[in-house]
Amino acid sequence: MEKKILVTRSSMPTIEEYVEEIKGIWDSHWITNMGPRHKELQENLIDYLGVEQLDMFTNGHMAIELSLQALNLPKGGEVITTPFTFASTTHAIVRNGLQPIFCDINPVNFTIDVSKMEALVTDRTCAIVPVHVYGNICDIEGIQQIADKYGLKVLYDAAHTFGVRYKGKGIGSYGDVSCFSFHATKVFNSIEGGCACFTDSDFGLELYRLKNFGIRGPEIVDGVGANAKMNEFCAAMGLCNLRHVEEEIAKRKAVVERYVAQLGNVEGIQLNPVQEGVLPNYAYFPVIFDEKMFGASRNQVFATLEESGIGARKYFYPLTSTFDCFHGKYDANETPVALHISKRVLTLPLYADLALEDVDWICEIILKSRK
Ligand SMILES: Cc1ncc(COP(=O)(O)O)c(C=O)c1O
Repeated sequence: MEKKILVTRSSMPTIEEYVEEIKGIWDSHWITNMGPRHKELQENLIDYLGVEQLDMFTNGHMAIELSLQALNLPKGGEVITTPFTFASTTHAIVRNGLQPIFCDINPVNFTIDVSKMEALVTDRTCAIVPVHVYGNICDIEGIQQIADKYGLKVLYDAAHTFGVRYKGKGIGSYGDVSCFSFHATKVFNSIEGGCACFTDSDFGLELYRLKNFGIRGPEIVDGVGANAKMNEFCAAMGLCNLRHVEEEIAKRKAVVERYVAQLGNVEGIQLNPVQEGVLPNYAYFPVIFDEKMFGASRNQVFATLEESGIGARKYFYPLTSTFDCFHGKYDANETPVALHISKRVLTLPLYADLALEDVDWICEIILKSRK
């Protein structure tokens, strides 16, 4: 059989470890609705992520969507955000009846460009939703300065930054709220899952109600909530995976270093630099191809890899602002750097158990794809 390498591969504990973790569920019959594993994972995550408080959800998207709702922003309000992200970020804003205002990204680490942000603030702006894309962190100080100046809320989409630390603090402790994804493809997974980190207990209570139908007490429902509770089986997977996450990150680091050693000095290839003051999590390995200098376009490299059974991903292409569901609403030319990068980026296979010889093979194919 021809060898295939997928772009990612979910981290899993041994089956024995998982079975041990879920045994108690059969004794108690408590399978969802904030059971003992939910509580334990929540406590362990507060500790690991270095945040004050957090709540957990069915997935990262619901953490973002309900956190935006819990911020109680004015309907129709404008939210400054990035189009260089996964559908979730933009959809969470739109599904809250808010208007995304797309800010360009910086060409070095592809996070929102703070120098272009202030020009987008109007009297309808109510929040900023930046994304720590690929695990690269945003200009946190610059964003907070603008937020403070104009009285704006800040929600970080931290889906890619599980375990990242900045200046010694957990990345989830910045902004009014930071949301992580525990999706199967992420550095840490609970099969599906996510969390929102915050410091304001009133906000936390509102968020808790929103994930549980707006229920305040057995006979009181005073909010129009959703259902976004994490079940016990997902929490159990999270408990197992959390035990191994440091080891997973260390293995990812070795893979990334191997890629950098081979692609770091190739003309026409741009990689993300290591950021100062950041303890990274090696979540993704994005590569930007300059067709003229490298000798092959992103699409040509993508096709060559595909022919060899290697799955790379055009992540993020297209920009969310150009999705069919927003047809005619936004102009991608207003975010030229994001547009430029989205046409040239590929994320390469990256997961803890990717063999270093396979990394060599992937790089060999990439380099051979030049004309
Ligand atoms: C940037 C970004 N935001 C949000 C999400 C949504 O997370 P989830 O898949 O857990 O709903 C994802 C991931 O899938 C993502 O990559």
